[in-house]
Amino acid sequence: MTAQPARSNRVGVPALSISCDMLVFGGTGDLALHKLLPALYHLHRDGRLHADTRIIALARKRHSLAAYQTLAERHCRAQVERADFDNDSWHSFAARLDYFAMDAGQSADFGRLAKHLGAAAERVRVYYLATAPDLFEDIAAHLQNAGLAGAQARIVLEKPIGHSLASAQAINAAIGAVFDESRVFRIDHYLGKETVQNLMALRFGNALFEPTWRAGHIDHVQISVCETLGVEERGGYYDHAGAMRDMVQNHLLQLLCLVAMEAPVRFDAEAVRNEKVKVLEALKPISGLDVQDKTVRGQYTAGKIGGQEVPAYYFEKNVDNDSDTETFVAVQAEIDNWRWAGVPFYLRTGKRLAKKTSEILIQFKPVPHRLFAGCQVNQLLIRLQPEERISLQLMAKTPGKGMHLEPVELDLNLAQAFRRKRRWNAYERLLLDVIEGDSTLFMRRDEVEAAWQWVDPIIKGWHQHYQSPRPYPAGSDGPEQLQGLLERHGRQWME
Ligand code: BG6
Repeated sequence: MTAQPARSNRVGVPALSISCDMLVFGGTGDLALHKLLPALYHLHRDGRLHADTRIIALARKRHSLAAYQTLAERHCRAQVERADFDNDSWHSFAARLDYFAMDAGQSADFGRLAKHLGAAAERVRVYYLATAPDLFEDIAAHLQNAGLAGAQARIVLEKPIGHSLASAQAINAAIGAVFDESRVFRIDHYLGKETVQNLMALRFGNALFEPTWRAGHIDHVQISVCETLGVEERGGYYDHAGAMRDMVQNHLLQLLCLVAMEAPVRFDAEAVRNEKVKVLEALKPISGLDVQDKTVRGQYTAGKIGGQEVPAYYFEKNVDNDSDTETFVAVQAEIDNWRWAGVPFYLRTGKRLAKKTSEILIQFKPVPHRLFAGCQVNQLLIRLQPEERISLQLMAKTPGKGMHLEPVELDLNLAQAFRRKRRWNAYERLLLDVIEGDSTLFMRRDEVEAAWQWVDPIIKGWHQHYQSPRPYPAGSDGPEQLQGLLERHGRQWME
């Protein structure tokens, strides 16, 4: 198979000097077709990939290469903005694609794969495991047995890594027996989002916030990731995971880490991850009866989203009719350390909510002595989705006589500020980092385990105390009980 070089580098930066085989296990699955291939197409179109880079999709179905290319094209056309999809780029990209039918559970198939790939002394091999985590251990062992896990090989693991601390430890140990930690990339696509990285830029690239970024000045923090989507085609996976394992254990805790961590001594993989793991280890455990006070679980019932009727969760495809899996969760987290003692971090996430938004609100404390009418507290809002913006709510005097104050916003719209640049999607950035071997934006083994260590007792507490999910209609803001979590401390969720 020969790969053709991209026509030109559209973005004025050199293509990677590293030639790579990108092997995607689960090559016909949702993640590969909806996220990975479109991201690779963009990288190709922008001329970022080395001319020799090959993309090899692996899955059980017996597709011809032509049939796979057609499938890939259909999905890329649907995912990529129309203005960014052109036939020339597509054809040169399709020439990089290969398809190999195999069963990832069968060791013999890895021998066939090794032959198919041929020798690769200088090439980086990236194995992207876009599969269920119960296949991770077998795949790593089979790669090793087939001689495919040499020094140039890297493995990418999609979240969730396991479904509990014990299963995550088992996976990490099995992967660690084949790949040393510097070659393991545990992906959390939230870390590839521009605004998430901007959170670090905001905190550690500006002197302004640091003195007030702590208990004493900050009243509380809210981290909300709200979705309008339901479980789509993923009912089989989701019904065993639920919102806690699917979102909180990874995305929301990663956001919490970036808000709460100390400044790393350098911006490199070890220094950044050392600071994040300290935050996770300082999370105050929530267990036993505490789960009733500090968490809210919910599950959507039938309702309307954007004018369309949608069914209850338990009627979704591949979901148990009497499922008690949560599709919504809110937690009051606390970090027991010098900087954050006494400052609650309220986390919430759910499916089939009224609006799709991901945002972080830092609510400051009131001024010590109120001089003016109308004075409210300062708020810093960091919005990741739908638009990327950072806004600071300040108090200003209303025009005219008297000193009456009203909140006004200092608003930084990141897409407008950097208008000339196409906004990257999270996977583009992360895939390039894997090829270059930079693991700063990936989760280290101890981070994943520390996150499970905090999450496990909450899930256990729900089951011990029969805390079944509270119903909420699709298209609402979540279960009624959500308000109580803040109101009892005199606080409110942001609108
Ligand atoms: C995934 C979850 O990791 O993140 C999905 O498995 C969720 O359930 C998705 O829908 C949300 O990602 P984003 O980037 O759309 O906020």
